[in-house]
Amino acid sequence: MRFAGRAALVTGAGSGIGRACALRLAAEGAAVTAADVDPDTAAETAALIVKDGGTARAATADVGDEDDVRAMVATALAAHGRLDVLHNNAAVLSPDVYGRDLDLTEMDVEVWDRTFAVDLRGAMLCVKHAVPHMEAGAAVVNTTSVSALVGDTDHAAYGAAKAGLVSFTRYVATMYGARGIRCNAVAPALVLTEAARRAMTPARLAEKAAERLLPDACEPEDVAALVAFLASAEARCITGQTIVIDGGTTAHRPEHAIRQAAALPRLTR
Ligand SMILES: NC(=O)c1ccc[n+]([C@@H]2O[C@H](COP(=O)([O-])OP(=O)(O)OC[C@H]3O[C@@H](n4cnc5c(N)ncnc54)[C@H](O)[C@@H]3O)[C@@H](O)[C@H]2O)c1
Repeated sequence: MRFAGRAALVTGAGSGIGRACALRLAAEGAAVTAADVDPDTAAETAALIVKDGGTARAATADVGDEDDVRAMVATALAAHGRLDVLHNNAAVLSPDVYGRDLDLTEMDVEVWDRTFAVDLRGAMLCVKHAVPHMEAGAAVVNTTSVSALVGDTDHAAYGAAKAGLVSFTRYVATMYGARGIRCNAVAPALVLTEAARRAMTPARLAEKAAERLLPDACEPEDVAALVAFLASAEARCITGQTIVIDGGTTAHRPEHAIRQAAALPRLTR
């Protein structure tokens, strides 16, 4: 019960990684505000926590909108009276934005702007309105991605916004470290959320497996375990860091993955 007597606010808590993190923090004693742009899924997450005997309140907010964020933080404080953990997890992954984040020469600038508004400005707005209510021992955790660390032929807006979040993590850690407030980020590769399971073809899953060093893909609960650790006092000496959680996907030379995919033996030099 690392969060007994503590209160946490998780954005994008209506599904996937955010829901798993909200459930995990609540299971360890936190009173949770489960926030999402989708009111129904936010309410579902809060109901799941309460059903398990935890304490939760749902909040509806588009994290890219300052009025929404102000109201969301007010809801969290009214419900639980304090704020110890802020998990900036929301990102826009919808077909009309993430799905159109393709070749830069044809990109609709609104796709770029909306991605940055939610994925990066959203975290800034949440920090802006939450940190004034946080005391020494509080922690911010940001969900970034390995897309922040490597290039690809699509999702440049997403990757650049997530890279901004890596830098933002260091700035928040630096700005509020003297007040005893920590800030870290988690950077997953593929996480098998329900949405990811639906979207992945068997061929794509095989490609992802070839990229990894470990046999198993990460589940949302694996990310939740890392987020809970970083948010807890056990991580009291860790701040400004981005922890990659990717089964080793970014830990090796590219040719290793190429050989894996082609089932080629390792060449001796
Ligand atoms: N699943 C993966 O493979 C993976 C890999 C790397 C990073 N991530 C990151 O993990 C986080 C969670 O992703 P997920 O896979 O669980 O996706 P998801 O789509 O299941 O969850 C994202 C949640 O954010 C909410 N959301 C979207 N726009 C919002 C907004 N403007 N304001 C508030 N909430 C909003 C959605 O309604 C949804 O509930 C994201 O930051 C994503 O970039 C996911």
